[in-house]
Amino acid sequence: SFEIDMADCGPMVLDALLKIKNEIDATLSLRRSCREGICGSCAMNINGLNTLACTQSCAELKGGDVRIYPLPHQPVLKDLVTDLTQFYAQYAAVKPWLQTRTPVSPDRERLQSKQEQEKIDRPSACILCACCSTACPSYWWNGDRYLGPAALLAAYRWIVDSRDEAQGERLDALNDPFRLYRCHTIMNCTEACPKDLNPARAISEIKRMMLERQH
Ligand code: SF4
Ligand code: FES
Repeated sequence: SFEIDMADCGPMVLDALLKIKNEIDATLSLRRSCREGICGSCAMNINGLNTLACTQSCAELKGGDVRIYPLPHQPVLKDLVTDLTQFYAQYAAVKPWLQTRTPVSPDRERLQSKQEQEKIDRPSACILCACCSTACPSYWWNGDRYLGPAALLAAYRWIVDSRDEAQGERLDALNDPFRLYRCHTIMNCTEACPKDLNPARAISEIKRMMLERQH
């Protein structure tokens, strides 16, 4: 437990943590980089909710004491630093890059209409902070086999990309009782996302596409 003078501290939880680290306990370990909700590295559990320490204002937290924990159900390396190796491997597993077969001249772009771009616009805003996946009970219990909401949102982002030509392969790779179907629409992911994204809806859309393919 640490006590700090909030009158002499920046407004965000990250400011408070850095004040503790700078002035009271230099051994306190946490990740941070951008301090403006872009890099995703300062994700942690603050008063019971996964969020970004750099965008969570202290004043908005109710009650006097603030309880801060590492992201739930991840191996803790030290203090607020968790081991996200599995999380990143799951992201890589959905092949988060453009796959095409049709050649285009190297000096031409693969164009999209405004409507096509809008389909991927929000899902592309994911900062891979892991707040969603580590808030999900299905991911807690089956994180070794269920891909989790962040990786599935990334999968969706490429499935609906009008330029991508591997939609069938991408859906085949997800057609598995664990990788996709361990989502039980609990919705903690969407609740937790500090970027206001909706992984739960993306997962439902993937399930709908799976069903459509069977008919
Ligand atoms: Fe973080 Fe939201 Fe992306 Fe999940 S969907 S990793 S909560 S930005
Ligand atoms: Fe980059 Fe918080 S420090 S998101």
